[in-house]
Amino acid sequence: SMDSGKKGILEGVKMIVTAGATKEKMDPIRYFTNRSSGKMGFAVAEQAAKEGADVLLVTNSQLEVPKGVRTIHAESAEDMYQAVMANANEADVIIKSAAVADYRPKKIYDQKMKKQEGDLIVEFERTKDILMELGRTKEHQFLVGFAAETENIDHYAQKKLQNKNADMIVANDVSHEGAGFQGDTNIVTIYKKDGSKTELPLMSKQDVAHHLIKEIAEAMKEVR
Ligand code: CTP
Ligand code: CA
Repeated sequence: SMDSGKKGILEGVKMIVTAGATKEKMDPIRYFTNRSSGKMGFAVAEQAAKEGADVLLVTNSQLEVPKGVRTIHAESAEDMYQAVMANANEADVIIKSAAVADYRPKKIYDQKMKKQEGDLIVEFERTKDILMELGRTKEHQFLVGFAAETENIDHYAQKKLQNKNADMIVANDVSHEGAGFQGDTNIVTIYKKDGSKTELPLMSKQDVAHHLIKEIAEAMKEVR
């Protein structure tokens, strides 16, 4: 790394990391979002930069940007899609740790919605699946997806690995204490294309990120 003068394991590697929740507007003052903080993705970006990678972080999160990392601000799923696709060609690795909204309000009101008598029904439409699109159009990029689940982790993670043509899925059980969105720790299982599965114990998100970076560097050597 830069500090020690020793070469990092991702020296010269171009990486895109997405992190945190997206925000889907309904009117000028209201939006839909989710509980993702962005901490996991920011930790990945930080560890990757420390290992010499050229990191572009695409996020709506307000966390402190790690040293040496470039950012593009992307608020909605559509903004994130545009930012990632515009930069995907020149990336060697794309890590999709963002919790992208699956749905957005079908209509965005220009003016504040005024309350009416009775219930409100909001119609939602699907957003684009960025990882799926990356998998479909992929050439040389090493694709890493995340999967937050509350049940059947193995089954859903393997399905995401295949359906999205990813090289690696990092799954976590968000119903488990110490894992998931807001905290500083995580418990993840890494699924790779070759069928291997690595369960990591509870550790800090920085340590999880360090493990992931090592796994990715190793796996990239194999496919190159
Ligand atoms: N993802 C994405 N674009 C979306 C939705 C998800 O790129 N519109 C990515 C996420 O960033 C993550 C992976 O796909 O890397 C899995 O996301 P997840 O929400 O766990 O899975 P989904 O495919 O959306 O399925 P579901 O939410 O129904 O479990
Ligand atoms: Ca989803």
